[in-house]
Amino acid sequence: MKIGILGSGDVGKALGSGFATLGHRVMMGTRDPTSEKVRLWVSKTGPNASAGTFAEAAAFAEVAVLATLRDGTESAIRLAGPQNLAGKVVVDTTNPLDFSGGPPPKLSIGHTDSAGERVQRWLPAARVVKAFNIVGNPHMFRPDFPGGPPDMFICGNDASAKETVAGICTTFGWPQPIDLGGIESARYLEALAMVWILTYFATRSGNHAFKLLRK
Ligand SMILES: NC(=O)c1ccc[n+]([C@@H]2O[C@H](COP(=O)([O-])OP(=O)(O)OC[C@H]3O[C@@H](n4cnc5c(N)ncnc54)[C@H](OP(=O)(O)O)[C@@H]3O)[C@@H](O)[C@H]2O)c1
Repeated sequence: MKIGILGSGDVGKALGSGFATLGHRVMMGTRDPTSEKVRLWVSKTGPNASAGTFAEAAAFAEVAVLATLRDGTESAIRLAGPQNLAGKVVVDTTNPLDFSGGPPPKLSIGHTDSAGERVQRWLPAARVVKAFNIVGNPHMFRPDFPGGPPDMFICGNDASAKETVAGICTTFGWPQPIDLGGIESARYLEALAMVWILTYFATRSGNHAFKLLRK
């Protein structure tokens, strides 16, 4: 598959490297494709990796991954060009974190709206699926925990897009992700990300992920 990553931060790099390792072709979309950070990522990631503008990565993508900072997401989408993402699966990893009061951050929206819903409104013709927002980036690809693979939760309005993303999760080492319904469930996944973040501040460690106990 051709994957367009929108955003060259830790999440974009972690997921982009995961896709490239699995043999997908990955274009990292960024405001500055010539930056040292991006050139380094491309050379480290190997022949499956390239870099371009947000618009080039969106046009290249069969599946796009949105990995942008809260305050930059709308602008990144504008730069990508919603028409370049029409009909495509867009994996939304973003959390609407407000760092203005210092760490730990707070959610800037919730209960009645979410980043996932905003992204779907900004990309009305795309098929947005929330995923990978509830875990730190070092564990997004091939999470390795003594208790076995953790659980991933996804949501979105389009059933076939969720099937595609569930398949991606499985190949990334998150078997059988749990489908929480329409994109409005992003309100709860983004709140769950806060539980992950507050656990990080409480324990001073990012080595945790969520797993349901079942019997
Ligand atoms: N960090 C984690 O472990 C983690 C885990 C789960 C979810 N998340 C969520 O995933 C998202 C990405 O996280 P991250 O840590 O990778 O973020 P980040 O490094 O802070 O930012 C990601 C990218 O956002 C883009 N961006 C920032 N301001 C912009 C603007 N004004 N216009 C256009 N693009 C802009 C930048 O892209 P370019 O510089 O490439 O142009 C930047 O590299 C966030 O919403 C975060 O809450 C993070």
